Amino acid sequence: MRLGFYSFFLVIFISAGWSCTSDKKIDGNVVQEEIKDREIKKISEAEIINKVNEIGNSIATAAKNTLGQNLQKAIQQGGLEHAIDFCNLNAMPLVDSLSKVYGAEIKRVSLKARNPIDLPNAEERLVLEAYAYQWKDSIPLQTNVQPIDENKYLFTKAILVDNALCLSCHGTFDNGMLKETDDFIKIKYPEDHATGYQIGDLRGMWSIIIMKKNVIQTM
Ligand code: HEC
Repeated sequence: MRLGFYSFFLVIFISAGWSCTSDKKIDGNVVQEEIKDREIKKISEAEIINKVNEIGNSIATAAKNTLGQNLQKAIQQGGLEHAIDFCNLNAMPLVDSLSKVYGAEIKRVSLKARNPIDLPNAEERLVLEAYAYQWKDSIPLQTNVQPIDENKYLFTKAILVDNALCLSCHGTFDNGMLKETDDFIKIKYPEDHATGYQIGDLRGMWSIIIMKKNVIQTM
């Protein structure tokens, strides 16, 4: 149990270390501007990270709520098959506007993805595997913020199967998913790996890139 807990921080530490040693070019003007902004407002790195956590949480909550409402409405209007097109973040005006305000890139990723574009990149995979490890040990899954480079942070938040509705499209034939729904999904997503879940399972995580500049502007 403790090993799982510490290894999560180790993973974050290692990945943060990578970003420091990366050989990406630093844009001098951006750094100068940021230092100026921070000096005027006297903001510490810890305060920025707290703010990223706050913003990330509110983006994830807003996106989750809108997604849930869209799904419910679509099911009422046209049933599950019609609703399949509504479990997608693209074409959600709310996600678009949040992205603009915070210079954010908002995604959901999963180790068992339905849409292959939702597979994690190397940085996301480290966090997601740490969440999976903690989840197995029943350790509460915390949100996480880590710097990606000098301009941006990665905010992550675990996504659990927290609702019986999820099972109708991500479950098993024993707990709520119909064979017809599965067949229908497999036509649109031939590489689907996102079934077989139970309530309480770790389904994936929010992966939200947030620009430092935009965060400082809100402080
Ligand atoms: C009507 C069917 C349906 C329901 C109900 C549904 N999903 Fe999905 N889910 C999908 C489809 C289809 C995709 C692929 C979306 C895309 O193309 O980006 C998906 C994708 C996802 C992803 C992104 C990772 C991946 O596998 O591509 C997550 C995370 C997710 N769903 C979680 C949930 C959770 C949690 C619930 C319950 C609150 C839920 N879903 C309910 C159909 C559904």
